[in-house]
Amino acid sequence: MIDQVVAILENRKVNEKYFKLAFRSRELARGVLPGQFVNIQIQPSLDPFLRRPFSYYRITGDKIEILYEILGRGTALLASRVKGDTLKVMGPLGKPFTAALKCKKRVLVAGGVGVPPLIFLAEKNPVDYFLIGTKSKKEVMPKKELAKVKGRVFYSTNDGSYGKKGYVTALLEEILKKEKPENLYIQTCGPEIMMQAVLDIARRCDIEGEASLDKPMACGVGACLGCMVKTDQGWLPSCTHGPVFKFEKLVGQI
Ligand SMILES: Cc1cc2nc3c(=O)[nH]c(=O)nc-3n(C[C@H](O)[C@H](O)[C@H](O)COP(=O)(O)OP(=O)(O)OC[C@H]3O[C@@H](n4cnc5c(N)ncnc54)[C@H](O)[C@@H]3O)c2cc1C
Ligand code: FES
Repeated sequence: MIDQVVAILENRKVNEKYFKLAFRSRELARGVLPGQFVNIQIQPSLDPFLRRPFSYYRITGDKIEILYEILGRGTALLASRVKGDTLKVMGPLGKPFTAALKCKKRVLVAGGVGVPPLIFLAEKNPVDYFLIGTKSKKEVMPKKELAKVKGRVFYSTNDGSYGKKGYVTALLEEILKKEKPENLYIQTCGPEIMMQAVLDIARRCDIEGEASLDKPMACGVGACLGCMVKTDQGWLPSCTHGPVFKFEKLVGQI
């Protein structure tokens, strides 16, 4: 893990929902696996004081891309930074998703800020079902961002303007009508409420899998204990023991 000042190569709006940030760093790109993240100091001044975590989205040589949503002050400030501005970036952090699945069909369930790391995973590994839920067609990722995904992508929108109408879990329930639960492995990332619904289905049907938790983080290295997760081994920091946790490790609500 290193902490490095990088120069912004690109920072632009991709669609109604996402911005794309790109920078170069051989060190921050080395050995990165899908599910890992960086912790970014948004401005050269210490305002905002706390860094913000973002998943690796795509790595091409030493070029690193991040896809982000504006959710509050930090991400709004990030969107105002321009080509040539510098950022302090710490990474690679956290534990990745499981890459090789033995005799299981991979089902990815994504929403919101969980879409970028699952696209990264789906570009590196074959996927049987990639389920993406958004509010409406306007938020659906441009097709070219998904061009390298190794599998079929299925969409749901809350308003029915694209794909199946309803929540992404409706797509998951459809799969369960034709596949045996013991043959599936779910990997999910997105809003907590979505991942909780996915976990509830997995627990009900006895499906294995893992979730990349979206706990607000400060230090990113296990020092502040601000991102604790209740597991079968007690409370653990998500930044170092996660953000990816196996379903069976998670106790109670996410
Ligand atoms: C491991 C990890 C990977 C992430 N990867 C990405 C990514 O690839 N792209 C992306 O856009 N975002 C990602 N996020 C979420 C991102 O870190 C938050 O959106 C960001 O920190 C919000 O900062 P802000 O200052 O704009 O918002 P704040 O002002 O801090 O908050 C704005 C709103 O967002 C909520 N919020 C704050 N932090 C989080 C959080 N971590 N998760 C959910 N809601 C939050 C607040 O409760 C508030 O309602 C990731 C988070 C984690 C933990
Ligand atoms: S963010 Fe500080 S312990 Fe996880």
